[in-house]
Amino acid sequence: MRRHRRHAADHGASNGAAQSRDRRARPRVLILGGSSDGFAAAEAFLAAGCEVITSFAGRTETRRAPVGFARVGGFGGVSGLAAYLAVEDIALVVDATHPFAAIITRNAAAACAEVGAPLIHVVRPPWTPEPGDDWRVAADLDSAARMVPVTDGPCFLTVGRMKIGPFATRRDVRFLIRTVDPPSPPFDHPDTLLINDRGPFSLDAERALFDEHRIGCLVTANSGGGAAAAKLVAARERGVPVVVVDRPPPPQGRVVATVPEAVAAAEEMIGLSMAW
Ligand SMILES: NC(=O)c1ccc[n+]([C@@H]2O[C@H](COP(=O)([O-])OP(=O)(O)OC[C@H]3O[C@@H](n4cnc5c(N)ncnc54)[C@H](OP(=O)(O)O)[C@@H]3O)[C@@H](O)[C@H]2O)c1
Repeated sequence: MRRHRRHAADHGASNGAAQSRDRRARPRVLILGGSSDGFAAAEAFLAAGCEVITSFAGRTETRRAPVGFARVGGFGGVSGLAAYLAVEDIALVVDATHPFAAIITRNAAAACAEVGAPLIHVVRPPWTPEPGDDWRVAADLDSAARMVPVTDGPCFLTVGRMKIGPFATRRDVRFLIRTVDPPSPPFDHPDTLLINDRGPFSLDAERALFDEHRIGCLVTANSGGGAAAAKLVAARERGVPVVVVDRPPPPQGRVVATVPEAVAAAEEMIGLSMAW
């Protein structure tokens, strides 16, 4: 029995015979998603002739549907992921998770090593400060919470709903918190405004938000990429200090910076064009 949900946008063959022929011939690629690169990777590997399954942790209440198949929820650690790779006959794993999702990245490396599956990590380059930026780089969230400066306007906190806990101790700071879904666990702080919204956010929208709330400080993880970068521009233009949470150490193994580079690496590693 198929365990994956197939979305209407899948461009696979439409009749049963053609489908089973395709399934034998097409390499099955597992994309560890939850990022904009994950969606782009699903499209690129489908276009390259692969059968694509995108895996989500299930952290958000709603999510965009990727092309191809989707599955939701943890695998059950390294052994669960290794079993999944074997049972589902996965030819390649593409780790396109967020750069701060360090556990699943580590688990993917261990599980792929266990079953001998090729693995490519897509790690988008981090943001770097530009002229006019006032960045204060924090090693982790606890340090970031300590480093938030006291300013006239609120501190705009954009580190994710499950990561904001350490900031609750800062009773000398007002917060504006933007998350996709409400914070979990709830954020216990008396002077906080919550906004639930999903990016990407345009530069005009970020400028309007900074001006409307008179933002005094920004806290962000160094996610990199274009989808979340506009807030940094808005902060730079206004001379607003930014506390930037540094990334965990990068993964070992085959690491590429973009989805097209991942497809090129896959061609080299598993011979995509020969398989299709
Ligand atoms: N960390 C961030 O700041 C951030 C930001 C935006 C999006 N995301 C996305 O949110 C998801 C969770 O992030 P996280 O930082 O909580 O991860 P994490 O700490 O690295 O992983 C914790 C556990 O969540 C499960 N998991 C994570 N990603 C998964 C995936 N794509 N498919 C299936 N299971 C997954 C795994 O459970 P099992 O051990 O049971 O397999 C993993 O051990 C990731 O997919 C990531 O791309 C994270």
